[in-house]
Amino acid sequence: MSSVTPAALPARKPLNLHRLREMHAQGEKITMLTCYESSMTRLLDDCGVDCILIGDSLGMVVQGQSSTVPVSLEEIIYHTRCVVRGNRNTWVLADLPFGSYQENREQALRSSVALMQAGAHMVKLEGGGWTADTVHFLTERGIPVCAHLGLTPQSVHALGGYRIQGRDAAGAETLRRHAKELAQAGAAMAVLELMPSDVAAAVQTDNPGMITIGIGAGQRTAGQVLVLHDMLNITRGKLPRFVRNFMAEGGSIDDAIRRFVSSVKDGSFPDEAIHGY
Ligand code: KIV
Repeated sequence: MSSVTPAALPARKPLNLHRLREMHAQGEKITMLTCYESSMTRLLDDCGVDCILIGDSLGMVVQGQSSTVPVSLEEIIYHTRCVVRGNRNTWVLADLPFGSYQENREQALRSSVALMQAGAHMVKLEGGGWTADTVHFLTERGIPVCAHLGLTPQSVHALGGYRIQGRDAAGAETLRRHAKELAQAGAAMAVLELMPSDVAAAVQTDNPGMITIGIGAGQRTAGQVLVLHDMLNITRGKLPRFVRNFMAEGGSIDDAIRRFVSSVKDGSFPDEAIHGY
């Protein structure tokens, strides 16, 4: 089997948080895809993706589970190691899975240290204001944190399904309050999942320094993320309407990824009329 040597990849400076903040300040959209293994990481890096997320969505798309709840910390560590071996330039985020940070901030620190030592650059955790103390504790100790608000899949059983969040005025207000608490606690980034685009836009305006990454949250976030298997049309069954099948438009995986990057960068994805709420 042939392999692409790192030297053959196009020159691109490794992304860091400083550069991501610069991009955000300059209005350049940030691209993120999930990824769980080395070969695909090389491809995404080669195609110019800015950030890779080792998401606990791997429970569903790799392991065939019905939710992300069963994913363990050891499994995320394993996939983080796989991704990091293929990576040269992208900013790598790893999910803190269900049960690995909820107990207390010390547990969150131990889990985050394990992910950072596996090679992650940033950890992501789900939840509102109740996570602010943990976010502060981690960032004070040199661990960059990405929050995750709106539809938080680890809480799917408590939320009663994969439902749009923040639809009414009270729900929108709660999301905005939680986002402020997390930004003040030091979250450098926040994934905003499945919420009306006006709410996501307000979260970004309220917290200009926090890099918001939307998924089903409209066009006015600082960047966009999709689950790789969804945008490559590998996932079977009905997909949420915020997903675009980039494989339908190009002849190869490379082409689909490049289209994702250019469509996010030029603002044509997501199209609020098609993918928004
Ligand atoms: O686990 C995951 O893939 C995620 C994305 C949906 C943002 O959290």
